[in-house]
Amino acid sequence: MILLGVNVDHVATLRQARYRDEPNTHGGFVEPDPATLAWLAEEVGADGITMHVREDRRHVQVEDVQRYKEKMKTRLNLEVSLATEMVELALSLKPESVCLVPENRKEVTTEGGLDIISNMERSRDAVKAFTDAGIPTSMFIDPDEKQLEASAEIGSPWVELHTGSFARAWYDESKRVAELDTLRNGMNFGISLGLRVNAGHGINYDNVEGAKQLEQVYEFNIGHSIISRSITHGLAEAVQTMRSRLND
Ligand code: PXP
Repeated sequence: MILLGVNVDHVATLRQARYRDEPNTHGGFVEPDPATLAWLAEEVGADGITMHVREDRRHVQVEDVQRYKEKMKTRLNLEVSLATEMVELALSLKPESVCLVPENRKEVTTEGGLDIISNMERSRDAVKAFTDAGIPTSMFIDPDEKQLEASAEIGSPWVELHTGSFARAWYDESKRVAELDTLRNGMNFGISLGLRVNAGHGINYDNVEGAKQLEQVYEFNIGHSIISRSITHGLAEAVQTMRSRLND
């Protein structure tokens, strides 16, 4: 059974589109609320919830995470960058796991995997700080053997393979198989190093057909397409359909 983590960042993106500059007006009425969507997703089958607090706070706010935690039913996977203040913030929020991601202010969404090899010492320090606090760390990396080896070397127990290239290649039959093979090799290599392998980014209701062939991935973290489909089909249908497509 492949688990489904639901990423609610884009619920916050929608809220910020209207209320970024006036969060406390309208009698406190701001919508939509990522914590509420997270609780609903848990009720209809999400195995976990992911939120990314970015350095520029462009979507999820610290208060969203705190409010979600008050009534959470599954577990919080918190994404942050390697910046010292973000690592400290993540430690203070006490999530069930942390995923370390690269951040580039101009990107619309997380674009590439973390380059651990170029950030070896900072990555090692962050993983140690989380490990000491009892929080498993996941490194969001491209399915590249060197990055997988570096993740294992710095003591990260988990990785999340970036599926963005595969997602882009899905609609091009000449590239699709090669990208899936790259992910499969990364998955197998990661497992051989003793890592738990998660995956995510760009997975939708079409390409999940290929993604589910990576049977040994522990969990897929999926956001944009589930939140998008929930607008037309409702969140329950969106979560349940993705869950069954991952596993049927
Ligand atoms: N995994 C990580 C590490 C991410 O940063 C994101 C969001 O960019 C996702 C998964 C989910 O990606 P998507 O919203 O494309 O499903």
